[in-house]
Formats: sequence, C-alpha cells, structure tokens
Amino acid sequence: MIVCFGSINLDLIFPLPQLPVAGQTVLGPHMHIEPGGKGANQAVAAARDGAQVVFAGAVGRDALAEDALVLLRRTGVDVSRVIQADTATGCAAICVDQAGRNLIAVASGANLAARQAQIDDALLGPGTTVLLQRETDPAEIEALIRRARARGARIVLNLAPPGPLAPDALKALDVLVVNEHEAAWLAGHLGVSDGAGGLHAALGVDVVVTLGEAGLEAATRTGRLHLPAHGVTAVDTTGAGDCFTGVLTAALDRGMALQPALRRANVAAALCCTRKGTQGSMPTAAETAAALPA
Ligand code: RIB
Ligand code: NA
Repeated sequence: MIVCFGSINLDLIFPLPQLPVAGQTVLGPHMHIEPGGKGANQAVAAARDGAQVVFAGAVGRDALAEDALVLLRRTGVDVSRVIQADTATGCAAICVDQAGRNLIAVASGANLAARQAQIDDALLGPGTTVLLQRETDPAEIEALIRRARARGARIVLNLAPPGPLAPDALKALDVLVVNEHEAAWLAGHLGVSDGAGGLHAALGVDVVVTLGEAGLEAATRTGRLHLPAHGVTAVDTTGAGDCFTGVLTAALDRGMALQPALRRANVAAALCCTRKGTQGSMPTAAETAAALPA
C-alpha cells in the first residue's frame, strides 16, 4: 500500500504560443481546468498503475475543493484522510507553450495546513511505501519521514519544488527522485558534487535524476544506471515528473526491483507527455505495459 502525503491543487492551464517573460502579456485561445498538485498527481499515477493508495492532504473550505478531489476519487484513491482547512484550496496557474514546455505558479493555500498526524501509526509499517513531494509544510514532511523510518515503511521523496529539508530526513529516505534543476539545487545546498553520483555519495540513499529528453541517471546502493528517454513526440510535459515518481513508487510498492521499476516509470512518463493536461494524462498499467520494450 502507498500512503501519499502531499499537495492537492486545482490547475488552471493556459496553452500559449510562447511562455511569457517578466512584464509580458501573451494571449492564448482558451484555458482549461483540471485537478492537480504534485501529491495528487503522483497518487493518481500510482493508482492508475495498479497501486492501492491512501492520500493525506488538505483542501480549503471553498468552491474549488470538490473539483480538486474529483480524479483522486474517480481513480479509487482513499481520500478519507484529506482534511478541509479554513482557507483556500491550493491553485496553480500553468502556461504551456507549443513545444509542451511549462511555467507554473502555485498558491499553496490549504496545502500548508496538511499535518502528518492525519496518518496513523498503523499505516506506516513495513508493508507501506510513503510517497512525498515538497509542496506541503517541510517540518511536517521531516516528521513523517522520521516516523515512517522508525516504523519500517519504505520512503520515496520527490524534492519538487526544491528547498531545504533536514539532512537526517534526507538520509532516512529509500529513494530520492529529482530532476536536473532540483539535483543541482540540492547539491549546491549540501555543498556536494552534482548529479546522481554526488548526491548518492553524500546521502547514502538511492538517487534518481530525471533528465527530460536525455532520460535518467540513477546512483543506487546496487550500482549505476543510465536510461535514454522513451522516444515520443511531446505535446505537454506537465506532470511527467509526477507520473514518473508515482509509477516508480507503485512498482517498488508491489515488490519490483529498482531497475525494472525505473524502466517502467520511464515509459509511463513518456506516455504522459503525449497527452494534454496533467493529472488526467497519467497512463493506466495496461497502457504502460503495452508500450514497454520487450
Ligand atoms: O507537477 C505539476 C504540478 O505542479 C501541477 O499539477 C501544479 O498543481 C503544481 O503543483
Ligand atoms: Na501531459
């Protein structure tokens, strides 16, 4: 079972001819609304890949809350541990250009009210994989990592967006997933050499660095791995990192070894890029299986 502690947003997605720069106004044809948040996106990706997922997070007491939860519910994610805080539901403005690149602004709102105490001890045993990002209160993330470590759960953290977490919490992870920007930020913050190898040497945990069109590199307790990206034509890369982390976590949770789990997540993330949208573009287990090289 996966216990995901993370963010829930409503995404306002603006397809644009190009991404705006500071001071610029760019006109696009229309906007569409979809549930999002890195936590919810990863939970949906894991559930579509076949995992049983319990979600702990927070929405606001407003009109956005139900729309933000709709895909979690529809995908069968257990949202009974999601609380309603006396503030606004998290919301993201996402600009996507014609090459599928994005630019994201997030109003965290209720996500900062999510508390790790929403997850009881019974859910944190050796049969659980805890899945985290960094869109909720960092002190709560650190406390949950320490509790999960003490109780024997597997722990996967996607340090997105990048920011500090206590070194003891980072060293208590099983798997750290970062993109190249997050990896460079963390290496600079820790004062260690960049890349999966540098972070693995510093933290002693399995480190996966996703490289977009260049695939991924991993430095783990059992060796090094470089995987090229699964070749597709990207329509919208938003959520590809979330898809990768969710599917990787689902595969590890059902006992798959790290290397095949990385191959599976790599293919799923590529499929996610071939579809518009974010949470709605997560592939099913059957779709990923069909696209996996034999
Ligand atoms: O990773 C994509 C997500 O980041 C979006 O769904 C948005 O809500 C932000 O959290
Ligand atoms: Na997508």
